[in-house]
Amino acid sequence: MKKKTYYITTPIYYPSDRLHIGHAYCTTIADAVARYRRMSGYDVFFLTGSDEHGQKIQRKAAEGNVTPKEYVDGIVASFQQLWLKLGISNDDFIRTTEERHHKVVQAIFQKIYDQGDIYKAAYEGKYCTPCETFWTERQLQDGNCPDCGRGVETVQEESYFFRMSKYQERLLQFIEENPEFIQPVSRRNEMINFIKQGLEDLCVSRTTFDWGIQVPFDSKHVVYVWFDALTNYITAAGYGQDDGKFEKYWPADVHLVGKEIVRFHSIIWPVILMALDLPLPKKVYGHGWLVVEGDKMSKSKGNVIDPVGLIEEFGPDAIRYFLLREITLGNDGNFSREALINRINADLANDLGNLLHRSLNMIGRFSDGNLPPCGELGEFDKQLQDLAKTTVAQYETAMDAMDINQALKLVWTLIGRTNKYIDETAPWALAKEEAKREQLHTVLHHLAAILRVVAILISPFMPHTAPKIWQQLGLGDDFAASLDDAKRFDGLPVGKAVAKPEPIFPRIEEKKEEEAKTSPVAAAKTAVKEKAPEQAAEISIDDFAKVDLRVVKVLAADKVKGADRLLTLTVDLGEEQRTIVSGIAQHYAPEDLVGRHVVMVVNLKAAKIRGIESRGMVLAASCDGKLAVVESSLPPGSKVK
Ligand code: ME8
Ligand code: MG
Repeated sequence: MKKKTYYITTPIYYPSDRLHIGHAYCTTIADAVARYRRMSGYDVFFLTGSDEHGQKIQRKAAEGNVTPKEYVDGIVASFQQLWLKLGISNDDFIRTTEERHHKVVQAIFQKIYDQGDIYKAAYEGKYCTPCETFWTERQLQDGNCPDCGRGVETVQEESYFFRMSKYQERLLQFIEENPEFIQPVSRRNEMINFIKQGLEDLCVSRTTFDWGIQVPFDSKHVVYVWFDALTNYITAAGYGQDDGKFEKYWPADVHLVGKEIVRFHSIIWPVILMALDLPLPKKVYGHGWLVVEGDKMSKSKGNVIDPVGLIEEFGPDAIRYFLLREITLGNDGNFSREALINRINADLANDLGNLLHRSLNMIGRFSDGNLPPCGELGEFDKQLQDLAKTTVAQYETAMDAMDINQALKLVWTLIGRTNKYIDETAPWALAKEEAKREQLHTVLHHLAAILRVVAILISPFMPHTAPKIWQQLGLGDDFAASLDDAKRFDGLPVGKAVAKPEPIFPRIEEKKEEEAKTSPVAAAKTAVKEKAPEQAAEISIDDFAKVDLRVVKVLAADKVKGADRLLTLTVDLGEEQRTIVSGIAQHYAPEDLVGRHVVMVVNLKAAKIRGIESRGMVLAASCDGKLAVVESSLPPGSKVK
């Protein structure tokens, strides 16, 4: 019989920077689901990759004085390293700079053009480069990108347009007829509302830079990076190149993406597929964001968490467990070092680690280190077996619905119940009476049997830990169990020797300040906690009034050549514009500043810095260089007093 197939994807991440814990979060979820499906007998195709074209990457490379290809090669290598360290089991890694992908993008662009769904026209509108997104004037919020809040650029060029409008009704109908298509349901409603406002034709080519895939019939144009990127999902499945493979895996079962890009996946992508007459993916799942101490991660805030450091410190499975257990799929979740250490100590070292350790110790002491046989069942044994059975069944339901968090809770309920079972049955007391030997062995047998089931159930989440438990239980060095194996309680090789217990998750003792400082989260925290400097001498209100403080809006920001701390800012004071030089380059990327309203001293004596006349100074905190940002509803020129 042919195996059922399961095709799951992550977004292909931009190699504009190294990946952070948010990217690791998404890929870990996809990995857990892929591993679960493989264990359930599916032929799985799990895809991740990198989205390497576009204006953002071209600019980054130029800043670093390297070619775009050199730039992305270095960063993509770090992606692959990270996935290796985290135990990600992707079956393919697609790079949009690969030949196989260029061919497909050009072929479908040509096909859609030939059938009249792509046409040439003049484009005039706004573009957010960090999001690589076109906006209309109407969609902007306070003149800024409605998604990320940063400044937009005016784009005026001749472009190719994709006739999305033509497919509006078909798309709406599809979404309404397929309630499972967009999840969670809150995202689905958002998308329906968005489409109902009217789909506009999408600009799908650019001419002002060249880092992209050429439009096949017009070499002045490169294909819009999102059109290029979304196509990766069919390229990797073999579209136009390996029909057997494509038929086998397409349509994808789920595109797992962050909530901010659900729109691209549930509107633009389906319309491209409709134009190609291809079936639509079965599901687009928008997961929530990982925030740090309640704040969105960003370079300018200096709170970006590097997963590599955490994996080195705590091991891959502890990080995976934390990400999957702490956050409910679809919701935002908080990352903190404290919460991570709490989870490791409570759930992994205590609940799971102790159960394994106690069980193996007792098998060593009371059964000569061999897996004992099962005798007649007592009340507690029956209860435990029943719970194990319902746990596996409920786990399966939860995992089929991608409710990973719930699946983990179920397993930990079983672990907790089993620890309690040890106290209820008190094997050490049974061991004192020769007549209770069979009962003692039955209890120890159950402990090993439960641990065997637990190892199988946690294997999609903790792929390095499951084989360790397996090996310590004497079940063999190669872990290869299926979900069906977890449904059988009689799979223990009675009489086989168990291994000496080795702690799988040592307790983490809170690190001393010194050590903790080197960790990314703690480092970000200590920056804020730095001691306040001595207060300056008292001044009168008249002294203060001499300082003319105003709200200004940053119109443009640029690096100063040869000075890595400096940026030039062009600011709007309401009545005039000025240029100033500011020493904040290590805390803000230029594009993070455009559009922000900050406080400036406007009557500071002019100074020449690196040959540039600077008239004014923006206010920033001395501890971490963060600017005094004010609400954008305050008009430029407003006096601050
Ligand atoms: O959008 N919390 O790439 P990208 C959780 N190239 N997940 C996060 C996160 C956070 N704080 N930050 C990022 C792109 N992610 C495009 C995708 S797909 C055809 C093209 C995850 O590098 C989340 O899954 O900006 C998000 O959607 C993705 O990384 C965006 O990665
Ligand atoms: Mg992004």
